[in-house]
Amino acid sequence: MPLPFKHFISTKQLTRSAADAILTKAAEMEKVIAKGGDDRLKGKILAALFYEPSTRTRLSFETAMCRLGGDVISAEGIQFSSMYKGETIEDTMMIVGQYADIIAMRHPEAGSADRAASASPVPFINAGDGPGQHPTQAMLDLYTIKKECGKLDGIKIAMVGDLRYGRTVHSLSFLLGLYDKVHFTLISPKELTMPPKVTDFYKEHKITFTETDDIAAGLDCDVLYMTRVQQERFTDPAEYERLKLKYILTADMLKGRKTTVMHPLPRVGEIATDVDALPNAAYFRQARNGVPVRMALLDMLLG
Ligand code: CP
Repeated sequence: MPLPFKHFISTKQLTRSAADAILTKAAEMEKVIAKGGDDRLKGKILAALFYEPSTRTRLSFETAMCRLGGDVISAEGIQFSSMYKGETIEDTMMIVGQYADIIAMRHPEAGSADRAASASPVPFINAGDGPGQHPTQAMLDLYTIKKECGKLDGIKIAMVGDLRYGRTVHSLSFLLGLYDKVHFTLISPKELTMPPKVTDFYKEHKITFTETDDIAAGLDCDVLYMTRVQQERFTDPAEYERLKLKYILTADMLKGRKTTVMHPLPRVGEIATDVDALPNAAYFRQARNGVPVRMALLDMLLG
């Protein structure tokens, strides 16, 4: 099933049936990976444009394209592209769209993905636009929750840390809002609370949520979604230092609990390494799920 849009910019574009179709396709892609891949995208080229640092998103997109028989061209760092000389995002997309069949871009500015998509002659995927959205991460998060918890309706999820600048929690909120009776527990210092663009969405859609600064409120949820404080979004380094490790999850805090622990990664201390050995530590499996989910998206957008 092709997706009902050409460009994937935001999880707000998704209907429940489109999200479910991506989950189904991702499960099929696990079987394709198990047999070493196939050639369904042979002759197609992905342009991976990463103007902000990335390990997981970039490499899993590239892996996904390779597993489906396609090829990848890439660019990284604004200082090494003609944007540094003043070329606009729009002109860059017009040019890259002459070379590639599909574009994935990460950029430091919120809203850059909308600008890029409006100019791109080929399908465009937002791979993270500053503090805006990270829709493909949200899709792999959704896939992980379904695999780990066996359900999406009725999920109780606690989101912990930098809810203000963390684009993954914004995108995942809009996506989980498509499912029934999901409850959000939002845990952050008062300086990093969830922005109104998300809390207004909860209210509009009658989605229940509670806000607190106490991580204990999240330990018995189905999912504990930890996040990194986004150093790159702070203008005051002292403020970052003060807030960066307000929450540190340890194995001791999870003793006797089955809470699925997720994190988009990278972590920088907010999950102690002694959590890694717990069966409910799902964050490395979550990162792995980026490959089948991005394979599904590439196939559906190019299909
Ligand atoms: N989760 C995520 O976006 O990781 P990267 O920044 O390494 O791509």
